[in-house]
Amino acid sequence: MYPSSISIYEVGPRDGLQNEALLPTAAKVQLINGLANCGLNRIEVGSFVSHKWVPQMADSAAVCQQIEQRADVRYSALVPNIKGLEQALAAHIREIALFTAASESFCQRNINCSINESLQRFEPVFTAAKAAKLRVRAYVSCVLGCPYEGTINTAQVAAVTHALIEMGAYEVSLGDTIGVGTPRAARSMVDAVSQRVSPSQLALHFHDTYGQALANIVACLDSGIHTIDASVAGLGGCPYAKGASGNLATEDLVYMLEGMGIETGVDLPQLAKFGQQICQQLGKVTSSKVGQALQS
Ligand code: HMG
Ligand code: MG
Repeated sequence: MYPSSISIYEVGPRDGLQNEALLPTAAKVQLINGLANCGLNRIEVGSFVSHKWVPQMADSAAVCQQIEQRADVRYSALVPNIKGLEQALAAHIREIALFTAASESFCQRNINCSINESLQRFEPVFTAAKAAKLRVRAYVSCVLGCPYEGTINTAQVAAVTHALIEMGAYEVSLGDTIGVGTPRAARSMVDAVSQRVSPSQLALHFHDTYGQALANIVACLDSGIHTIDASVAGLGGCPYAKGASGNLATEDLVYMLEGMGIETGVDLPQLAKFGQQICQQLGKVTSSKVGQALQS
């Protein structure tokens, strides 16, 4: 059975903008405030990673300090280590998202360590986050394929996901980082992970590089998962995954879910307006089909 509502976790300001041209802080702040006004109540606003690795996110502290932090919205930031957690705390962020991968090669290229080392690195972060009463989300990348290793074993995805939940993550987001998955593969991966972790603690983070994200989501919609990640205007991707351009556009996700009678709480015309505005600021055309159709 399909769920009656889906919680959308908006990643545009982070996963989107980390892979686009540099934007002024004020434009990011305007975007985040606009997304919150559209009804998106979970927004990843930036990342506290090395500025050398991802210069687009270097102003994340300023972004966190300048956004209007509404009580009805959960703002989060991507964090790779204890240093990132300290910056998130200083910026008054109450939710962090840690990230590792199901592929060793991708993990090395993205965060410069093995999967096991990444989990060890997270231990003090979980401890400090718990002490500070922060929510901790986590990502597992390359769940449906890796740009360096190709096919990824679903048992490996399940093992890493299980480890993160055991360590204290309230939710693990399953990342098809390079968007290579297709519906049957997506569903069997979710079924394999669900044998070790309750689907209520999972989220889908499917990139749309090959135009498969919505189809993959439909294939998993009756699996018990009720959180889906998306990026306004389909902005961005991961800079350490060749071909990871094209996040799933939030506008496309909202249109499909609402059309299926599944509530999202998002004002689609408003969202399309903000998608259009950010694309103008970036000097690009929206990647969202729905955004294009609704263009005024
Ligand atoms: P490293 O070089 O191994 O780390 O990088 P290090 O501890 O040796 O530190 C090197 C330098 O970075 C030092 O500075 C540190 O102070 C600094 P230096 O002495 O050279 O001037 N540093 C930091 N600076 C700011 N914030 C920090 C921080 N930590 C160390 N938190 C590190 C390791 C993890 C830092 C690096 O690899 C990194 O920043 N990687 C980030 C990669 C990234 O952001 N990728 C994109 C996000 S992941 C993604 O998009 C996938 C996802 O969407 C899901 C999906 O689609 O699958 C989540
Ligand atoms: Mg991503």
